[in-house]
Amino acid sequence: MISDPLQVDDFNKKLKSWYLKNHRPLLWRQTTDPYKIWLSEIILQQTRVAQGTPYYEKFLENYPTVFDLANADERDVLRLWQGLGYYSRARNMHYTARQIVSEFEGRFPETALTLSKLKGLGNYTAAAIASFAFGEAVAAIDGNVYRVMSRIFGIKADMLSNEGKKEFAQVAKTLISHEDPATYNQAMIEFGALQCVPVSPNCSICPFNDICYAYAFNVQNELPVKAKKLKVKNRFLNYFIIQQGDKLAMQERNTKDIWKGLYDFLLIESAAHVDSPEELADNAMLLVLMKKGTIRQVPKLYIHLLTHQKLHVQFWWLTIPESEPVDLPPNIYFFSKNEVEALPKPILIDTVLKEEKYL
Ligand code: ADE
Repeated sequence: MISDPLQVDDFNKKLKSWYLKNHRPLLWRQTTDPYKIWLSEIILQQTRVAQGTPYYEKFLENYPTVFDLANADERDVLRLWQGLGYYSRARNMHYTARQIVSEFEGRFPETALTLSKLKGLGNYTAAAIASFAFGEAVAAIDGNVYRVMSRIFGIKADMLSNEGKKEFAQVAKTLISHEDPATYNQAMIEFGALQCVPVSPNCSICPFNDICYAYAFNVQNELPVKAKKLKVKNRFLNYFIIQQGDKLAMQERNTKDIWKGLYDFLLIESAAHVDSPEELADNAMLLVLMKKGTIRQVPKLYIHLLTHQKLHVQFWWLTIPESEPVDLPPNIYFFSKNEVEALPKPILIDTVLKEEKYL
């Protein structure tokens, strides 16, 4: 394992020189504003740079400072986030922005330790903000960095286990440059994103191919080790889109389940696929509604993958004449087309409304 200060120094020189030649001039690398860095890191946890950049720009146009975000309505924040997924990250950012304003007068804490106490900031994000904005010498270890470290230094510990994380953190602590920790962290991330890529890295041009463990033993594909396999749960969602005139009946999702704070339709979940609404248990209210209008099935079964869930989703469109009085279930309300457009919705719901030519 690397510990000789001269080797560490050499590693840092090579890394920095690679970074200066090869890095992308990304927007968030041209600022030391912790708010902007925070936003970029949260977005990049779930999206690639190309898809994330427009969201970053749009978000900052709407909320240029932490004060603007703190003052925002949660619905508007979620609407801007629409399509990025992992909506709890947007809700946590909103919550934390309020806390930074109310408890710290809008000034971010300046160390990774204090930052990591805020809601939604894990060790990685806290270290990224502390080093990029405040120059603290703490290593920010994301998936890219785990890959680079495990391959070059032959670390075979499971990067998802607590002991594994400790081992990587220990090595990273030895490696990090104390003169320029911000560039060190950006460079490790960028090196993983551009050079030490997950599949078929071009090792012949790598500046570390003289010391790289994985290259020497030809085990690039086996590193890093990620032992935990996530179990995926299948869920069957049956949606009823109730329309009267141009209005649709929508509900805000309030439970601890997926998509909290976003709007969807009357939903009946089943244990397996059903071919018709009549097969749904607990459908008395539905049968009353169906008698009032005409129902058609949206002719497509949607499969939507989340991190731990595979959603099998089907929709029925129920059109009820405006002359019919309708008793909607609790928490479901009619919204005009403009309102439906403006509400924050899971991307799947937005897609169906567009494919069905409603929006
Ligand atoms: N992924 C996560 N953080 C990043 C950063 N700062 N630059 C580029 N890609 C990233």
